[in-house]
Amino acid sequence: MGQKKLIKFAAIKEYNNVLEFPQGMPGKWAAFFNILNKGTTAIDIANLSISDSLVGPNISSDNNNEDVLTKLTLELACGRGEYAVGLGRMFPNENFIGIDLKGNRIWKGASIANKDGLKNVAFVRSQIELTSNYFAKDEVDEIWITFPDPQLRWSKAKKRLTHPKFLRLYQQFLKNDGIVHLKTDSPLLYNFTLKVIELYGLHLIYKTDHLYNEQNIDPRCLIKTYYEGLDIAQSSKIHYIQFNIGQDLPLELDAVLKEAIKDIPMDIGELIRMEAEAARAKKED
Ligand SMILES: C[S@@+](CC[C@H](N)C(=O)[O-])C[C@H]1O[C@@H](n2cnc3c(N)ncnc32)[C@H](O)[C@@H]1O
Repeated sequence: MGQKKLIKFAAIKEYNNVLEFPQGMPGKWAAFFNILNKGTTAIDIANLSISDSLVGPNISSDNNNEDVLTKLTLELACGRGEYAVGLGRMFPNENFIGIDLKGNRIWKGASIANKDGLKNVAFVRSQIELTSNYFAKDEVDEIWITFPDPQLRWSKAKKRLTHPKFLRLYQQFLKNDGIVHLKTDSPLLYNFTLKVIELYGLHLIYKTDHLYNEQNIDPRCLIKTYYEGLDIAQSSKIHYIQFNIGQDLPLELDAVLKEAIKDIPMDIGELIRMEAEAARAKKED
């Protein structure tokens, strides 16, 4: 591993705004941000109180804390965390957490948040598959999924972050009327997600296959991420979907989905991406 990566890994271990695979956090994020805001040096998870308004598995409130639950938004597959940081700046009274496995990428966002004194922004280093270990039922208001790997091969569809397998995971901590945002340059992932929404009868709030062509763009959508800037698919078209997942996602529909997505076409941009991603992965190894 390169020296630069090692330095970044060591740095995030010292950062108060980064938690790596944290144990015992469900229900405690209000208390966490309260302490982060006060700027004390070390945050001891064991001593954080659980928010009174949260109930759920393994949660028992001490009914004795003053930590007010503020709106909490996650950025999944956050990379350098442009959304966590950008939204943190836009909404100083709300809290934001970026989640990614790669510590050297998280380091970037966490360093900017520290430098700019953004006390409402934090990062969790972990696999997304483990997120239900970190949040209590109803603790999260919104989820942004920004330029995730589209997992283009049909056989990898279950790894797409809007596959029902993942949506069921998010349901464990996202409020019933909570919102999921997907921003992607992959037409395949966009069409796949629309198919999921249609098949499982989810509530589609908004969709566009050409975000920057829209008349009125939600200012949050103007935040640009590192991968957006790379324009790997060379499509210069950004797709965006907003939807709710507040209802059951029957397991038996997964087999129907598997068949239904066989025909979603892969355009030339996706083929360019496949090659570019393979080359990048080789370089990073
Ligand atoms: C294509 S990059 C996008 C990063 C960032 N959102 C952007 O737009 O620049 C995908 C990110 O997802 C992360 N990732 C992929 N699968 C993951 C998983 N299962 N758990 C955690 N992070 C994951 C990778 O580490 C990577 O940083």
